[in-house]
Amino acid sequence: MQLPPPRGPLSAWLTNRLIGGDQDPAIEVGTHARPFADNDLQLALWVAYELQYRGFDGVEPGCQWDPDVVALRARLERPWIDWLEANCRILPTDRPVAEQLRALIDADDGPRLAPYLRRHAPLEQFREFVLNRSVYQLKEADPHSFAIPRLDGAAKAALVEIEADEYGGGRRDRMHSELFRTTMRWLGLDDSYGYYVRVVPAVTLAVSNVMSLFAIHCRWTGALLGHLAALEMTSTLPNRHYAAGAIRLGASEAQARYFTEHVEADAVHEQVAAHDLCGSYVQQHPDAIGDVLFGARCALAMDNLFAEHLFATWEVALRHQRRPDTAAR
Ligand SMILES: [Fe+2]
Ligand SMILES: [Fe+2]
Repeated sequence: MQLPPPRGPLSAWLTNRLIGGDQDPAIEVGTHARPFADNDLQLALWVAYELQYRGFDGVEPGCQWDPDVVALRARLERPWIDWLEANCRILPTDRPVAEQLRALIDADDGPRLAPYLRRHAPLEQFREFVLNRSVYQLKEADPHSFAIPRLDGAAKAALVEIEADEYGGGRRDRMHSELFRTTMRWLGLDDSYGYYVRVVPAVTLAVSNVMSLFAIHCRWTGALLGHLAALEMTSTLPNRHYAAGAIRLGASEAQARYFTEHVEADAVHEQVAAHDLCGSYVQQHPDAIGDVLFGARCALAMDNLFAEHLFATWEVALRHQRRPDTAAR
């Protein structure tokens, strides 16, 4: 993909550096009260993280290890991690981790984006939802795959079981990222990897950046697994809504298949993720339980902030935004 246009001094510094410019390494990152909404910070983080995935056209792959780039990334992460710690860290109890994950998810009262998309959203809003989601969905499962070499035994087997499904069990036409491409093409969207990074808001970049933060640092392996568990455990019902919304708006079965696939697959994945993956991992690493729950809460928080952003953009009536019960996300 092409380097996206900078959105401020931090992303400009990084972009110039990556194309070979001589940049002052002492650039100030400053303070950020709402880092998830900061366009410059989130884009700079997204670009810095992408060097660990596929990189950019015209950027030397060795830039991944440029000490000044790595140092900037660490400084960019500081306000972001501080915000996540302040807003998403909770104390674990002595209950099994799968039970605590379930309780976290049941207690979450985020915006009711999925039912809105099912029943009310016009095609243009559904398209915007898919466009934003493409920033992660075209690399679906890639961030969590970083954990595979860090795991052992039952936890490793569980993660590989989930990831194998995400990658279509070795069949390209069943890869979730490819199914998502079919949905994008139905909506007339460009399905090239990273195409919409240049236009999406900070919060959409933040949804991906929290995964990449946890993915590239061994220190955050527990959080990465908790993040995956939260994604899997909050997937089945919303995807049923998304599928129905897509069909209402004229999608064929194939064009809605990304969503219907997740209704069935994630009913299984949520059990594997909560019990076999996080349960085994916490058994092997009892001190990691706090990080597992932290990662799960970060996933829920970012999902909610993303939904709030879309609702705010669409100026949808508040009555759609809060759910009356815990069943309908
Ligand atoms: Fe998936
Ligand atoms: Fe899944």
